[in-house]
Amino acid sequence: MFPKETYIRRRAALREKLKGEKGIVVFLGNVEAPAQYRDNCYKFRQDSCWLYYFGIDEPRWAAVLDLESGRETLYADDVSISDIIWMGPQPSVRSVAESVGVAQSEPYCKLDWAVSQALVQRRPVHTVPASRYYQTLKLQSLGIEKPSEALVRAIVSMRLVKEPEEIELLDAAARLGQKMHTVARRGIRLGRREQEIVGEMEGVTLSEGWGVSFATILTQHGEIFHNHGHGGLLEPGRLLVVDAGAESNEHYASDFTRTYPTSGRYTPRQRAVYQLVYDCHELAFSLTRPGTAYRDVHLAVAERMLLGLKDLGLVQGDPAELAAAGIAGLFMPHGLGHNMGLDVHDMEDLGEDLVGYDPDQTRSPQLGLGSLRMARRLVPGNVITDEPGIYFIPALIEQWKVEGKDKGCVNYGKLAEYYDFGGIRLEDDVLVTPDGARRLGGERLPASPDEVEAAMAADKENK
Ligand code: GLY
Repeated sequence: MFPKETYIRRRAALREKLKGEKGIVVFLGNVEAPAQYRDNCYKFRQDSCWLYYFGIDEPRWAAVLDLESGRETLYADDVSISDIIWMGPQPSVRSVAESVGVAQSEPYCKLDWAVSQALVQRRPVHTVPASRYYQTLKLQSLGIEKPSEALVRAIVSMRLVKEPEEIELLDAAARLGQKMHTVARRGIRLGRREQEIVGEMEGVTLSEGWGVSFATILTQHGEIFHNHGHGGLLEPGRLLVVDAGAESNEHYASDFTRTYPTSGRYTPRQRAVYQLVYDCHELAFSLTRPGTAYRDVHLAVAERMLLGLKDLGLVQGDPAELAAAGIAGLFMPHGLGHNMGLDVHDMEDLGEDLVGYDPDQTRSPQLGLGSLRMARRLVPGNVITDEPGIYFIPALIEQWKVEGKDKGCVNYGKLAEYYDFGGIRLEDDVLVTPDGARRLGGERLPASPDEVEAAMAADKENK
């Protein structure tokens, strides 16, 4: 947790941003979620908006901020003797409230009364969209019908710009993520089961941090984006996509991707595609600076990718025109990156477009660009991922061929030779600085094809 002054300052800034609004703001922390029966719960993960404004990392807390009187009230229950038997002594609600700078506290059940009073008086009740089923049910039972766009916009404007103490924690989460990735790379040996490497790399963040920031992707089928099966044995000549990150004990995320040759050396065909993804990755970073829309960085990467794919004989035509026509989506059907912070896809539960798009930007319907989660003009303090990739997805290629979606730009005959290729993605975490950008974390993970092969050769010698 940060010092209480941080939470007091953030809540004051939020009230200032909502100066023109009336009524109350209701924040719901998360509650325990049973895995099967009541007393066997999933590992508790607090709501990120709650963490940002209150920091209390315990279940079943709520708060009301009165926008007109400025009064702040926390709602939670002191433990009973039966709780103490199972959990040991716990700090009082009053002392926890004091530790985050809130003077008033009430039992949890009084939240219903506070909200019903506001509704009876026809005062607006502002909430964020529910991110868990509990919140959906609780908001329904409180009679709160829809989230408040004014509140969401105010929160997004604050959380999009990371404070110096958040950047320190993001750097630490990135270093932990890099350590996970180094352990994964060192674990690559033909014949090993993917799951063994997953276990080793996740052990790193479990022993030093909260755990993983999302379900680890470690697969020889990189063309399947969220492939969470880890049953494969490492086969010679394949590509292994490792997309994983750490969540620190303070709940800040990291998210890195590297793609390794299972045999330690890329084949000439793999190297050519890898080099192109690497060039796109370097281009994206070089263009990342304040004032530039991340949407334009995505488009520049798309054009660079199409130039390289043209050199490989896979597409034909002017790369700029191909990019404008959305042809890059066939090869990279995802966006260049997303915001990162307390969540690995930061704040997307608040509404992807409100978070990732400036008010004058609209989301493209094109495949790939349409999945871009962060399109905004960048400002210092933004933390984003930069993750270009090239994938050969046979079902998608076949669909485009049948439907003629490429309007004759794609060389399907040549592309058929890549159906067994898989995919390649590279990803780093990037902080926008006043004069450009820097990558978060410690020493950068090997990224160019030569760096990756050299690191894998050194790993082998050290085994
Ligand atoms: N790195 C995983 C994701 O962005 O979904």
